Amino acid sequence: METVSSAAVLAQVAAIVSAHKTMPGAMLPILHQIQDAVGYIPSDAVPLIADQLNLSRAEVHGVISFYHHFRQQPAGKHVVQICRAEACQAVGSEKLAEHAKLALGCDFHNTTSDGQFTLEPVYCLGQCACGPNIMIDDDLYARVSADKFNRLVAAKRGVE
Ligand code: FES
Repeated sequence: METVSSAAVLAQVAAIVSAHKTMPGAMLPILHQIQDAVGYIPSDAVPLIADQLNLSRAEVHGVISFYHHFRQQPAGKHVVQICRAEACQAVGSEKLAEHAKLALGCDFHNTTSDGQFTLEPVYCLGQCACGPNIMIDDDLYARVSADKFNRLVAAKRGVE
């Protein structure tokens, strides 16, 4: 379903675009700021960005879809990222990922039915010596077992 932004969200997007449009290579900083402010890049931000940067809508859309960091729908209240790169794999991240999917009842790139958690893979968090590593929102957690995962998720549930 196409998400239509509220007037307030579009005004926020317009302010971000106009504040950055003259900087060299403005597209990525603009997209980061929109996602930070709104939580995702609304589809109706695309024509606005394209107009202001003198690009086609396809070019803007292509950049958004190329970079995994940018999401095109709102995430759940908390984003859980599980490292799936080599060092964490060597110490059990695949098993942890399977556990996480069962515990949350959703697959990667999906959000739990109560809207609390979005599950995402990540490919190295720079903490390779103490995996399996996960991030929940901006917090990094090391040596995460299934039990520890359950505790972390329980602690976050219901927290803004
Ligand atoms: S491989 Fe997981 S943090 Fe580097």
